[in-house]
Amino acid sequence: MIESNFELTAYNTFGLPARAERYLRLHALSQLDELQLEKAPELVLGSGSNLLLLDEVPGLTLHIDLRGVTDEFGQTLPNYSPTDGAPATIVRAAAGVNWQQFVLYTLSKGLHGLENLALIPGTVGASPVQNIGAYGLEVADRIHAVHAYEYGVGMTVLNKEECAFAYRDSYFKRNSGRYLITAVDFKLGGHFEPETSYGAVGDRLELRFPGQEVSPSKIARAVMEIRAEKLPFFSQLGNSGSFFKNPIIASSTYESLKERFPQLPAYSAGTGKMKIPAGWLIDQAGWKGKRNGAVGTFTKQALVIVNYGGATGAEILAFSERIQADIMDHYGIELEREVRLIGQKSK
Ligand code: EPU
Repeated sequence: MIESNFELTAYNTFGLPARAERYLRLHALSQLDELQLEKAPELVLGSGSNLLLLDEVPGLTLHIDLRGVTDEFGQTLPNYSPTDGAPATIVRAAAGVNWQQFVLYTLSKGLHGLENLALIPGTVGASPVQNIGAYGLEVADRIHAVHAYEYGVGMTVLNKEECAFAYRDSYFKRNSGRYLITAVDFKLGGHFEPETSYGAVGDRLELRFPGQEVSPSKIARAVMEIRAEKLPFFSQLGNSGSFFKNPIIASSTYESLKERFPQLPAYSAGTGKMKIPAGWLIDQAGWKGKRNGAVGTFTKQALVIVNYGGATGAEILAFSERIQADIMDHYGIELEREVRLIGQKSK
């Protein structure tokens, strides 16, 4: 049943006031047959954790509420691991499944692989779109295939290569009007290689579990602790996680910046390229904890913009544009939004 003028405030983690012209909750694949969508709706909504909504979302908002994890169908892949031959398992989760619940569920079943991505807000279906990542792992590292509805065509399956994953990017993001993700197959379990290269994770494991063998659930625990300390919970303070992407710049640009800013952190991002933490740039430019009315950067992480209560999408957008302009002035670096801007300002 399609509803009109539907209030979206409770459906975006920024807590922004916005209304969908038309709204439909998709809880069964059969609805897609009935809808016969020829093109993408204006907004495909998961848990609204990566959105910047302006007041009015014209057209149709399709809220993905497909549920279910089918580990019973889980096909075991023998000899998947080149190291010790331990079998990995394919686990399929529907697009509307809550990400954190899915991570905890897989760990409870003894299937490791997603522990570094614990506590990321969002849904399973949104995870491939921007290739969510944290603490040394990207979801692309664990995806086997993505099931999707191709508008005007029907159901299809994309293998990992076809998803063309990159840093916070995928084929789905670059071709946003083409597919609606309905389920994702993950390759989990098998040989366990702990990913603890991200300094904070290794440090936390040593602090919490000194001298102990590292396990998937210990990593998840460490990651959850770090996130809880550094990032605001949207239930307490509206936010959409990192507001901008970490910019990737030419190594030559990095070298000359380093002369002006000797402390500038950077990570290699392939040949001739460096990834710079946007949080550092914003922090050093004096924006950390800065507030203008109901909008500000988070006191413990300058890359996160927060709604202190009563902010509008337009106010957040204006604040973020001031940051972008200032970062350009300071460093000559262009910051790209990570969050998706949807809708229009009411007249
Ligand atoms: N930093 C500062 N000041 C700040 C924030 C960061 O100096 O206010 C410095 C830190 O000291 C550190 C560096 O910047 O040297 C990186 O900071 P952090 O470890 O917090 O990670 P990040 O690069 O800011 C990225 C992801 C996060 C993810 C973390 C952990 C992006 C855009 N963000 O943040 O993802 O949780 O790494 O892996 O890639 C998200 O995408 O919404 C998100 C939260």
